[in-house]
Amino acid sequence: MNTPNPISKRDPANDHDWFDLATHWKLRSDTIYLNHGSFGLQPDVVRYHRRTWINRLDEQPMDFYLRQMESALFEARTSIANFIGTAPANLVLIDNATYAMNIVANSFSLNPGDEVLINDHEYGAVERIWQRTCDSSGAKLISVPLPDSFESKEQIVDCLTQAVTSKTRLLVVSHITSATALIMPIKEICDAFHDQGIAVCVDGPHAPAQVDLAVEDLKCDFYTASLHKWLCAPLGSGFLYVHPRFQNTIRPPVKSWGRLLPAIPETWDEEFTWIGSRDPSPFLSVPQAIAWIQKIGLENFRDRACWLASYTEDCLRDLFQTQTIGDRSDGWYGAMTHVPLPLGDWSSLQKQLWEQIGIEVMIILFKERWYVRASHHLYNNQTQINTFIKAISRMTT
Ligand SMILES: Cc1ncc(COP(=O)(O)O)c(C=O)c1O
Repeated sequence: MNTPNPISKRDPANDHDWFDLATHWKLRSDTIYLNHGSFGLQPDVVRYHRRTWINRLDEQPMDFYLRQMESALFEARTSIANFIGTAPANLVLIDNATYAMNIVANSFSLNPGDEVLINDHEYGAVERIWQRTCDSSGAKLISVPLPDSFESKEQIVDCLTQAVTSKTRLLVVSHITSATALIMPIKEICDAFHDQGIAVCVDGPHAPAQVDLAVEDLKCDFYTASLHKWLCAPLGSGFLYVHPRFQNTIRPPVKSWGRLLPAIPETWDEEFTWIGSRDPSPFLSVPQAIAWIQKIGLENFRDRACWLASYTEDCLRDLFQTQTIGDRSDGWYGAMTHVPLPLGDWSSLQKQLWEQIGIEVMIILFKERWYVRASHHLYNNQTQINTFIKAISRMTT
């Protein structure tokens, strides 16, 4: 698929410039959705495209599976590969980042005494995945505490590398953290660990579309992602990238034919093409999501989403007089913001915001402190944020 010409540059601070794009989604009218970071929403064009694939499958399954599906899957994979900067042969289409991380954890060879490093900003489910793998192989999972305040890339890289021992085999690290919304210095981290001969698995569901992603340049060993978040592809679309040096170690979680008969899978990735009769429409709709965001222009999207995030952040910081973990002006945040609430127990706040005002936003407990994590996409605007700020102000002061 050719890259469409993007729309012209718009003013990120002017809501009027964005109203036409907000109509690309059908959002429920009772909701202000500030949680794209958890579960993304698809624009109508992507939903329509997916529907078309489902109809093609439902109306004639034999024709769809036998004559249409494989080439369409390969095409979708090529489009993702181009978008994230790698060759299609290094990529398999996987339902989501969680699934992809499980594949890495079930394939990576660990011996008793080996160490796997994570840090205390990692996604809870990822920690559980690696804990299970370490427990079953006799390896140790070490969680490195990162500083309370992020000052520089070097500080974070040093913190992680100081935890390396002669037994460290793998670092698992988020590209953008879940609970804290921080953009990690991922290139510098990958470089530092490779210098020491340690493999790196990047947990990246927040990266595609939100930030530049050139997987080959990172030189990581594994990269896992979901595409329902910032790219706005359907739920159930994601990928696993594996560097050629690890490809022959990968165990497909589901053993099936691999390829449609009569083809026999010959390479690691072909094992993933046919894993039983299922609905591949989320994957097949990803090229449409890529074309859609490229038409808007990645720069346009990021400028606007970051402007909205920074607006929310300024309002919350003024309201609570608290400091974020990193400084936005130093590049620590993108389309999400993460601001500490005043000291106290805010465990009911998320529920209250939804039940009383219809606002979906994450109120997260991180290291015994409650935070707001708000996400912003092109369907959000200042009016919604002002409503949110007014509501949270009333509920917290
Ligand atoms: C950093 C991180 N890793 C993994 C996941 C899991 O993503 P999914 O539920 O799409 O598999 C998330 C979800 O929010 C996340 O933020």
